[in-house]
Amino acid sequence: MGAAEEEGAVVVTGASGYVGTWLVVKLLQAGYTAQHRSETPSNIVKTKPLLDLPGAGDRLSIWKADLQDEGSFVDAIRGCTGVFHVATPMDFESKDPENEVIKPTINGLLGILRSCKEAGTVRRVVFTSSAGTVNVEEHQRSEYDENCWSDIDFCRRVKMTGWMYFVSKTLAEKAAWEYAEENGIDLISIIPPLVVGPFLTSCMPPSMITALSLITGNEAHFSILKQFQLVHLDDLCDAHIFLFEHPDATGRYICSSHDATIYDLAKMLRARYPEYDVPEKFEGIDEGIKRVHFSSKKLIDLGFEFKYTAEDMYDAAIQTCREKKLIPMTTKSVKSCAAADGEKVNACLDSVKPIVTE
Ligand SMILES: NC(=O)c1ccc[n+]([C@@H]2O[C@H](COP(=O)([O-])OP(=O)(O)OC[C@H]3O[C@@H](n4cnc5c(N)ncnc54)[C@H](OP(=O)(O)O)[C@@H]3O)[C@@H](O)[C@H]2O)c1
Repeated sequence: MGAAEEEGAVVVTGASGYVGTWLVVKLLQAGYTAQHRSETPSNIVKTKPLLDLPGAGDRLSIWKADLQDEGSFVDAIRGCTGVFHVATPMDFESKDPENEVIKPTINGLLGILRSCKEAGTVRRVVFTSSAGTVNVEEHQRSEYDENCWSDIDFCRRVKMTGWMYFVSKTLAEKAAWEYAEENGIDLISIIPPLVVGPFLTSCMPPSMITALSLITGNEAHFSILKQFQLVHLDDLCDAHIFLFEHPDATGRYICSSHDATIYDLAKMLRARYPEYDVPEKFEGIDEGIKRVHFSSKKLIDLGFEFKYTAEDMYDAAIQTCREKKLIPMTTKSVKSCAAADGEKVNACLDSVKPIVTE
């Protein structure tokens, strides 16, 4: 593993988002120089948290790019030694999912790989994949590993919430493996489940609306938490850098530290946050439901260590949401909070969509 200074500059796509922002923080802390590919670099609200980071002045540059405009990546990637491809379109409400979500995700990833080939300087590409490429199928198994792939036909047939996201990530990752093999690109994919933790973005991140639904009472998301897996945002970003740097890293890596059921989560939240009215029973979900294991053995065997507990993830997420006034301090105060900060709370909650679903 070379020192960060020897690694040169890296590109991060999607750095205005929940995962990307934190990854840029970690990269700057590790001494990297980062180039962020932004669809709308002039968007001050989204780029401000990045520009305010320590080290950003000297070692962060922001470039305009769009996943749908292949050529827009070449200039930033040229001369860089690494690319972290985090960006993804997340419009679950899209009226034209094939053209607005699926095609841009696939073509965006392939365009980046083509730019890496053209640049000739990129040592490794790390693609942020998703558990949605692994376990979306009719019947849940007891355990999943990197050999598992979601059932695209099932997604297209059932059209569950977020189906286009699962299809887009699965097809993009499969196409990327084919291209990387044919063109000698060193590609790593990292597969996170539900990511929970602190965040720098000003609005509620997509995954947080699901993660905190037992607190906010957003019942539409309860089924997503029936049997789920978790990772802390900080662990996930450390894993990105670990896999980028490790000389023996190869292929896909699940990055998941905890398996849980909705009853596990409810019990933990009720014990730690009695001020929230967290339900005890969930209609249609058997209390004896089993956890589904996502195996991170491959990542752990390579030497990666997870640092955080599920309690750490939720404490950080809740604290951040409280500080940003995205959730009330207690459930009882929902109405009074809404009165005080209604515009902000509602604007943020309205804009978020589930990241995973069944
Ligand atoms: N959070 C989780 O629980 C979770 C779980 C599994 C996998 N992941 C993966 O992690 C990655 C980041 O997710 P996130 O939670 O950070 O989501 P997010 O907060 O919605 O961030 C998505 C990022 O992608 C950018 N983007 C979207 N469409 C784009 C386009 N056409 N061109 C360029 N950039 C575009 C967005 O920029 P704008 O805001 O400017 O559009 C934003 O920076 C995704 O690849 C996702 O699949 C996340």
